Amino acid sequence: MRTVGVVGLGYVGLPLAVAFAQAGCEVVAVDVDSRRVAAIAAGSSYVEDVGEEDLAGVAERLRVSTRYAQLARCEAVLLCLPTPLTANREPDLGPLTDATRALGEVLQAGQLVVLESTTYPGTTRERVAPLLEESGLAAGRDFHLAFSPERVDPGRTDYTLRNTPKIVGGLTAGCLQRALELYGLICDDVRTVSSPEAAELSKLLENIFRSVNIALVNELSMLTDRMGIDIWEVVDAAASKPYGFMRFEPGPGMGGHCLPVDPFYLSWRAREFDMATEFIELAGKINQQMPYHCVAKAQRALNERGMSVKGARVLIVGVAYKPGVGDVRESPALKIVSLLRELGADVSYHDPHVPVLGELGLESVALEDALRDSDLAVIVTAHPGVDHELIARRARLVLDLRGVTRAAEVANGTTNVVRL
Ligand SMILES: NC(=O)c1ccc[n+]([C@@H]2O[C@H](COP(=O)([O-])OP(=O)(O)OC[C@H]3O[C@@H](n4cnc5c(N)ncnc54)[C@H](O)[C@@H]3O)[C@@H](O)[C@H]2O)c1
Repeated sequence: MRTVGVVGLGYVGLPLAVAFAQAGCEVVAVDVDSRRVAAIAAGSSYVEDVGEEDLAGVAERLRVSTRYAQLARCEAVLLCLPTPLTANREPDLGPLTDATRALGEVLQAGQLVVLESTTYPGTTRERVAPLLEESGLAAGRDFHLAFSPERVDPGRTDYTLRNTPKIVGGLTAGCLQRALELYGLICDDVRTVSSPEAAELSKLLENIFRSVNIALVNELSMLTDRMGIDIWEVVDAAASKPYGFMRFEPGPGMGGHCLPVDPFYLSWRAREFDMATEFIELAGKINQQMPYHCVAKAQRALNERGMSVKGARVLIVGVAYKPGVGDVRESPALKIVSLLRELGADVSYHDPHVPVLGELGLESVALEDALRDSDLAVIVTAHPGVDHELIARRARLVLDLRGVTRAAEVANGTTNVVRL
């Protein structure tokens, strides 16, 4: 049986570990977070895309630990560490370098190491390789090293690890060949690029593409607000073009671990090459403005009904950063709650995926009761299964930041809905 190691059991690492175990490999899965390790050992999942039945199905082949020692017997080890920004918005490779150093201490000749974390071009060669070489083994000669970006989209079921093409770039031709064979076990379509740097940058291009296009439609939504044009109608009309246009929706800003963070890995790296990556900076600036714009809209909507934000009871519907998941990292909802509170609003929230918002001292409330008790309901994230028509019907006033009440509004002829 083949043995594969995974370091970092988050949104990326845990599904990968389960996929290799489902493909018949023995998996050694390592995380520094002992609560996560205990949860998986007990068969309980904290990642939506991994069901408890998935964990039960691979329990025999999935060994979890906080210790690196067992990674020594793996033929390949995948690094799935977080790559956040520091307070100064510079790359924080701390978790990655800590993990790489720890892996270096147990590294064996003949092993393949693959980095999956999103990062700037050059990380695999310039940061990971030297740390692993402190073991005395040489990258490309004694062990193989590659980069393969994770493309998981949490909550998505049509494109999975199996049917999403996987990109791989190796330090040498031998490294690439090993990585191709490895990912062939869990992916139907593995594509190669000529270097780890090309693979690293391909992932950043994907994320920057989204960030820039979201910013474009967000900027237009601020303009259409002033012009009295419905941005949703405009996007629908433009999206009817069968070629040369890709639909992006306006919204309250960007959230999650990737889009608000990853592009700045490239801006930072670009400065070394005397380049300012203006699209990235501009998109970041516009997307960061959106929560402020949305709160100003809430303020105006209340004002038109003779109410001030101060003392208003505001219900936020959906606080996760995107539909169908419980992840609130960098979610614009958090900023919107803080801004409304600063203005004196009494804020509550409803989110079936997020029972508690510890940092804001809030717990999710029952939707129907809360609608009755609120002056304004703000739809920040439109989870499937939440009845947005009911919200449009029952709430005194609705601010819809996701365009999900449009059908209800037409059907009911309601005038209590304001949209982005
Ligand atoms: N979440 C996504 O949708 C997504 C998609 C594509 C790519 N990525 C990228 O993949 C990488 C991982 O993201 P994630 O969302 O899985 O992060 P995560 O925070 O969910 O998981 C990372 C895990 O690494 C563990 N960890 C931290 N330091 C460690 C160490 N020294 N040793 C062992 N474990 C350690 C943490 O405890 C955590 O469980 C990031 O670079 C991210 O940008 C994420």
